[in-house]
Amino acid sequence: MKKINVGLVGFGNIGSGVVKILRERKSLLSEKIGLEINIKKVCDLDISRQRNVNLAKDMLTRDVKDIINDPQIDILVELIGGVHPAKEFILEALKKGKNVVTANKALLAQAGQELFSEAADRGKNIYFEASVGAGIPIIKSLREGLVANRFYSIFGIVNGTSNYILSSMSKNNCSFQEALKVARSKGFAEKDPTLDIEGMDSAHKLILLTYLGFGKFVGLKDVFVEGISHIALADINYAKELGFAIKLLAIAKKDGEDLEVKVHPTLLPENHLLSSVDGVFNAIYVASDLAGDLLFYGPGAGQLSAASAVVSDLVDLTQDIKAGLFRPTLNIIEDKTVKKLRKVDDFKSRYYIRFMVLDKPGVLARISGVLAKFGISIGSVSQKERNKTQFIPVVMLIHEAKEKDMRNALSVINRMDVIKEKPVVIRMEEA
Ligand code: HSE
Repeated sequence: MKKINVGLVGFGNIGSGVVKILRERKSLLSEKIGLEINIKKVCDLDISRQRNVNLAKDMLTRDVKDIINDPQIDILVELIGGVHPAKEFILEALKKGKNVVTANKALLAQAGQELFSEAADRGKNIYFEASVGAGIPIIKSLREGLVANRFYSIFGIVNGTSNYILSSMSKNNCSFQEALKVARSKGFAEKDPTLDIEGMDSAHKLILLTYLGFGKFVGLKDVFVEGISHIALADINYAKELGFAIKLLAIAKKDGEDLEVKVHPTLLPENHLLSSVDGVFNAIYVASDLAGDLLFYGPGAGQLSAASAVVSDLVDLTQDIKAGLFRPTLNIIEDKTVKKLRKVDDFKSRYYIRFMVLDKPGVLARISGVLAKFGISIGSVSQKERNKTQFIPVVMLIHEAKEKDMRNALSVINRMDVIKEKPVVIRMEEA
């Protein structure tokens, strides 16, 4: 049986999962695909640590050149994460005629265009199924299953850590910090959890989804990104009382000829499908013109789930190599109906706002006066407590308003002596 040799860089959590699956499912995979996927070399800086799979000593190396310069290795699997030196390893591997599989969304979001064009020039492919939603086959679905569709929107929960935090605050009535601590101990947060909490990990994934869905490689600087660290337990509970859940959403949506690409905490109606996605689960909603509205749901992090996606990429590549084919899977066609990226000032949405105000006559009149001056209409107001000596929360739901008007109004309101701190502002989505 023909053997395809693979070199794996990064023998961490996902890397050892890949080795485990390829070993334990060896005969199943060989029967299915008619060839053997053989891990020839594994590279990691730490080759002495015990993993949950054992490898023969001569398969392990600390020098990536042992993989890159080995002409018998057909595919490089990059699982070290981060931009450098992962980028250099991939470029070198492409130069040496290897195809690449990676789970590295941070790298692809920042240097994907360069890497994809290098791969295409060399007649090679880069597969990246594990980079979004771990084992959920969203990349392959957008690229292949939905190839004939145009998309209205692609949006959802693509960061398990922040979803775990928000749902655990809601279910266990605990603080942000307590929920974060548990999330970290469970091991699904990034090395630097600010990437998860501040929305960057979601933004990296959204850039890839936007590229696949709309054919536009959006720069990080063009994605509006807001994280969840300012959301208090009180906001989750007030939102619940009003019939909403708070979720960190990554959203790419067309509105007329504009495309909005943004990550922010969002109030969703409780009966929205995404509102019941809890814990480390991810869910991506795809609104398409032919296949209709689709929901992709599953664990968004985890060793075997991510490794399952890596193995699926390996199988795709091995089939092409076996057939002597080059399928240009990175040949993404731009959606020409999209004329421009909408600037954040021009976003429109409904808003939840929690002000902390002094409880005295005229305060609400002053706030609503400023909102009115900027053409902003209030949907509902509720004062949550009564205390003449302390600042108390007042929650407003605002009818659809332009982001620029909202920011201008808030900058006036924030300067009022009756306001204690910057209000918590959360956008609302009906979709
Ligand atoms: N840290 C990511 C998350 C998992 O929490 O979703 C890998 O993408």
